[in-house]
Amino acid sequence: MKILSIVGARPNFMKVAPLHRAFASREGLESKIIHTGQHYDARMSDVFFKQLELPEPDYFLGVGGGSHTQQTARTMLAFESVLQAEKPDAVLVVGDVNATLACALVAVKEHIPVVHVEAGLRSGDRRMPEEINRILTDSISDYLFVTEQAALDNLKAENVPDEKVFFVGNVMIDSLVHYREKARQLPLLSELGLEPESYVLMTMHRPANVDHVAGLRSILDLIKSTAAYRTVLFPIHPRTRNNMAQFGLQTELEAIPNLRLLEPQGYLEFLQLMENACLIITDSGGIQEETTCLKVPCLTFRDSTERPVTVELGTNFLLADLDPQTVHRHVVAILEGKMKTGTIPPLWDGQTAGRVAEILASSLQKK
Ligand code: UD1
Repeated sequence: MKILSIVGARPNFMKVAPLHRAFASREGLESKIIHTGQHYDARMSDVFFKQLELPEPDYFLGVGGGSHTQQTARTMLAFESVLQAEKPDAVLVVGDVNATLACALVAVKEHIPVVHVEAGLRSGDRRMPEEINRILTDSISDYLFVTEQAALDNLKAENVPDEKVFFVGNVMIDSLVHYREKARQLPLLSELGLEPESYVLMTMHRPANVDHVAGLRSILDLIKSTAAYRTVLFPIHPRTRNNMAQFGLQTELEAIPNLRLLEPQGYLEFLQLMENACLIITDSGGIQEETTCLKVPCLTFRDSTERPVTVELGTNFLLADLDPQTVHRHVVAILEGKMKTGTIPPLWDGQTAGRVAEILASSLQKK
């Protein structure tokens, strides 16, 4: 039995790594990895393969950047040839990036079962490209593996038949559990001259925040007010870096006192930085889950989250307003310890990939 697993962008690698390991360790299950090349820089892609012990991808499609349509269409064309050559028993996609939808769409048209890991999440905000990718991918998937109760509720409300849906936990947390100890051994923190819990870690890359000058200005203000209080570490995503330069804000950014601008970090390095931060400020999806698992406070700059369990049980706090004073109030409250420590959601235990492999092995065998 052959499963093709798709990776395209940075948040996919830590999800597919444990799945590939679980598949490869089962007799009779062949696991191949297809990298669409949506992310291609060494720091956005190669380092993750190395650190997560993923083998070289069986196919690299070299799709690269561009508009959503260009990226999606190029992925579909390139993946169609792979599918026709490989004739797998299933195509597995994770998360919500453009590669997820593009490859699911090609597979369903070739009548190959589609497996979606991290299904059912909904922000309710259709202006987010990821929300469209999630809704469409789920609607054409045959196996929907979910991370939290809200996802089960969403799929039920969308009339997805129960027999397609499996509550298995969170594969990204499998990677976190697997590599946490290794990340602790890195010399990074001492190389940066930082004490644990002495800094705020920040990431920002969502188009809604960084593709226009007002959003970038708000981010500058946010950094300034936070850095007045604590050192801010900011590993900057290529989209954000490019836009800061394009809108002429690069010099102002670089001049902020107490801000340490870093290149995008590897998986292990970022894990160490997260675990030791006193607070994380982000607009990412996955970081909301990782911080919940690490019990590190997280301020998420979004109107809505598709991962509500991180707010209900975890350490995540949503903030739609980038007004520096509002932010500052929250930052101070958190740093003074006035925020809950949270609990880890059910089945986020490091064993999720094994559950997925078990279900797929027995179910695909019967077909
Ligand atoms: C994508 C995902 C987003 C995810 C994010 C994580 C979609 C719709 N979005 O957004 O959900 O949170 O990845 O990083 O799939 N670039 C480089 N080098 C790279 C990759 C990108 O320089 O290796 C630059 C390019 O100029 C590119 C831009 O960053 O155009 C944006 O990359 P893209 O893949 O289009 O979207 P992300 O913002 O990374």
